[in-house]
Parts: sequence; structure tokens; C-alpha cells
Amino acid sequence: MTDVRTVSTTPFQDQRPGTSGLRKKVDVFRQPHYLENFTQALFDTLGDCRGDTLVLGGDGRYYNDVAIQTILKMAAAAGFGRVLVGRDGLLSTPAASAVIRRHRACGGIILSASHNPGGPAGDFGIKYNTGNGGPAPEQVTEAVFERSQSVDAYCIVDGGDIALDRLGATRLGNMAVEVVDPVQDYAALMGELFDFDRIHELLTSGRFTMRFDAMHAINGPYARTLLVDRLGAAADTVMNGEPSPDFGGGHPDPNLVHARELVELLDRDPGPDFGAATDGDGDRNMILGRGVFVSPSDSVAILTANAHLVPGYRAGLAGVARSMPTSQAVDRVAAELGIACYETPTGWKFFGNLLDAGMVTLCGEESFGTGSNHVREKDGLWAVLFWLNILAVRRRSVAEIVHEHWAEFGRNYYSRHDYEALDGDPAQGIIEHLRAELNGLPGKSLGGRQINLADDFTYTDPVDRSVSQHQGIRIGFSDDSRIVFRLSGTGTEGATLRVYVEQYEADRARLHLDTQDALAELIAVAERLAELKLRTGRNAPTVIT
Ligand code: G1P
Ligand code: ZN
Repeated sequence: MTDVRTVSTTPFQDQRPGTSGLRKKVDVFRQPHYLENFTQALFDTLGDCRGDTLVLGGDGRYYNDVAIQTILKMAAAAGFGRVLVGRDGLLSTPAASAVIRRHRACGGIILSASHNPGGPAGDFGIKYNTGNGGPAPEQVTEAVFERSQSVDAYCIVDGGDIALDRLGATRLGNMAVEVVDPVQDYAALMGELFDFDRIHELLTSGRFTMRFDAMHAINGPYARTLLVDRLGAAADTVMNGEPSPDFGGGHPDPNLVHARELVELLDRDPGPDFGAATDGDGDRNMILGRGVFVSPSDSVAILTANAHLVPGYRAGLAGVARSMPTSQAVDRVAAELGIACYETPTGWKFFGNLLDAGMVTLCGEESFGTGSNHVREKDGLWAVLFWLNILAVRRRSVAEIVHEHWAEFGRNYYSRHDYEALDGDPAQGIIEHLRAELNGLPGKSLGGRQINLADDFTYTDPVDRSVSQHQGIRIGFSDDSRIVFRLSGTGTEGATLRVYVEQYEADRARLHLDTQDALAELIAVAERLAELKLRTGRNAPTVIT
């Protein structure tokens, strides 16, 4: 019998989870009792866990190994019956979701700060997913925060660290610790959804090349197993495939800036036909073709339009969902297919109820997130396999598929402008200034466009009727253009203001403009509305996507 020790502690004020779990600098997590307090608050909120199965793993970033051991010892003290932990403490976020679902666990703890940099000076994070495999809803994360404000002791079993480098079961007190292969369940699930024979044929045909950039993050082993070992892609397909605690010193965010090495490869002549990258914890994706970047909003629209070509989705889609700031490209496809399209607040957790209720099959966010009802997280490698399945069946290039899509549905020019690391007050000031203007805006003309909607987005979940307020300022125009302003809920340094700009174009002669040029007028309207230069003290956004 291992002894349970009770350790007294005092609350930390800053343990409110954001868009995706509790994310802080590593130094914050390293404070004595910090992780323990939050974990205890979580376990207290979950209630009686005796005999339950918990899934545990992370993206391998710095501090993952230390935190895993602490959580195992606390899970044993809390009375869990069994913890399924990925070998070496690793599980990608979508794989964790798959493992929770396959093994009917009561939930899982994922250690990740997603695409944020790692290493001792980087970020760390902890997130709880419920039994459906998805991020805990706001009621749960709020309850955990509440509890964290009064936690005065935590329970932990004493003892040495558990070896996590070999598969199999051991015990920690009365709790079983099963070290599982992080890739196996996930790979099996992918095999059930996609036409592996067709993809294998494409990848071994000699007329198609691809590169996958794992960005020194969690998906390296997943991509090697699936793309190279199972699907026959060339051995050099996976680049930056060794996960490292600081992501090779890089920023594991799959976008045009941070995945530059891949982008440059695709720009070469002749470059690969297809390029893709995923983020720190494997849930985001970026899709590239020769000479073309597929915007994430377009990607979810294109997957929806082509889902009938993929075995797992051949039976039809129940509906689709996108986060509010995501472009309305997928709405047009849904209308054409005669299926519902839901608009949810930012953050994957808002898709959970719709997926659980069987109301939607595919969902996506503009922030490089795409997924489906196969798990309850967005899924980077899944999106890559989906694209490969489409490419294998249609035998068209990525650029052809995108251009044909625009020709059929029109193009939603779309861009996001981020103002990062602002002082909290001016950032909040911009939102308050806009809020104060909202009532007077409808009916007004700005830059030749008429405003027909101005609100602070409130979402009523169609399944449980829960209401989420203040989810972003929406300004809609009569020509379907939109400007959205919101503050990031994942940043760890100051405040980040996101400005999303979208404009629909059906004129075939205007489908191939430069995105920033096409959106220039609307961007100027955003500046006028929010007084961005004045209020941020910046001349330009930090990042333009
Ligand atoms: C960002 C993205 C959002 C995504 C989240 C987690 O949140 O905008 O779409 O779900 O990361 O990956 P934000 O920082 O905007 O709150
Ligand atoms: Zn992520």
C-alpha cells in the first residue's frame, strides 16, 4: 500500500482556464504547488473518481515529463482505477481524444500549450477533456477555477517515478498505470475513415510527391507511421519529425510564417505536389499545394464539398459548424448540400454538443483547425489524410481543386490581423469603444457598404441552451462582407486583439486577386471603426494571416 500524503497549500489567483485549458509560462507552472493546486481543483470538481479510467499524455514539451509524474501520483491519491498514459508521456491532442473514446475513459488530461513555443522560457498548459473526448465545457472549467480559489490542500502518493518508456501495465498504489502506444488507436481510427488503398496508390505512383512538416512536435511519429509505413510515402516525406521539448527552438505553429522551410520547398520548381504541417500538439493543420496556400476557412469548405469521396463520410454529412470568425465559405457549400451550418464561438469546445447530438459531422475554425465527429478535437493529420484521399480520387492538383471550388461557389476573401502583446487596457478599450458604438451602426454606410448587423456575439447552444456572451464584435454588411473583433483567450503575454476581415466575390474575373489587395477597403473600414493605430499605438498588425 502506498501512502497518501496531504499537503497544505494556498490558492493561486490566476488559474482560470482560457480558450483551451490553463496556459502559462513554464516558470509559472514550476512554482511549488501550482500544478498540484490546479490538478486537485480539477479532481475535486470531477467528484468521485474511484475506479474510473483516466487518459493522460502531452505534446512532449518541456516540463511534460515532470508534470506527468505529479499527475499520476495525484490520480492514484484521488482513487482512479486506471490511467492510460502514452509511452514517454506522449499523446497528440486528437490521439488523446481517440483514446478517451475508444477506452470509454471518464476523461483525460492533456499537457500542451498547442502551437505556443516550448522550452524552459516557453509555455506550458494543462487541459481536461471529458468522456466524449472533447475539451471540458465552460461550466466545468469555471467550476475548476472556482475550486482553485479555495483549495487549501492536495493529496498525492509518495514514491519514485513510474517508468513510462515501455508498453505495459504497472501499479501505483491501488491504481493501474497502463503505458499505451500513442499512435496505435489513432492510426486504426484513420484506417476506418480513409481509403488507404487509393492513397497508397497515389503516394507510390511516382507521379506525386509530398512533404509533411511535423515542426519538431508531437506528430512526427504519427506521420511516419501513417504516411511512410502504412501509406508508402517516400522516407524523406516527414521533415522535422523528431519531437523535441523546445520544438527545435521554433514556434510550432503551422502557418506561412512559422513553417517557412516547408513553404520555401513548395515554392521551388519543381517542388512537391502537396505540403502540410501540423502544430505542437498535432491538432492544427496547414495545407499547401504547388503555388497555392489553402486558407483554413476554404479548406473546411472544400472538405465539405468533397466529403462524398471519402469512405468515412460517404453516407452524407449531418451538418457542419464553423466558429464565428471563420469565413462563410462553408456556409455556401452547406446551403448547396441542403445541410445545416452552425456558427459557434471561438474554441473547439463549442463543437462538442453539436457533434455529440449528431447534428454536425465536420467542423472548422479559421485558425488552422479542421475536424469531424471521429474525435472531439480538431485533428491536423486527419485533415492531411482527408486532402490526400480527395487528391487520390480526383487526380487534380491542389490548385485546381481550390480554383474549381471558387469558380463553383465564389470566393470568400479572408484575412486575420493580429495585434499581439498589447497592454491589457488599450485592448479592452478597443472592445469597449466598439461595444459603445454598436447600437448606432446598423443602417450606416461605411466605405460604400451598408452595415446591416452590429452586435457582440452571443451564442445559445442549440443542444443544452447554455448561453455564452461577449464572444466577439461582429459588423456585417449588406454584401455579406464582415469585420470581427475579439480578444484572444489563449495568449500568455499581454492581450492580443484579432481583427478578422471577410469579403465575398462571385465575379469570375476577380477570383485571383491578392488577398490583402482585395480586402484593402474593408481593412480601412476596420481601422476607422476601431481606431486601431491610435488605440494600439501600432502602425501595423504583428501578424497577418
Ligand atoms: C485560438 C484560435 C481558436 C482556437 C484556439 C485553440 O484562440 O483563435 O480558433 O480554437 O486558439 O487552438 P484565441 O487565442 O483566438 O482565443
Ligand atoms: Zn494545437
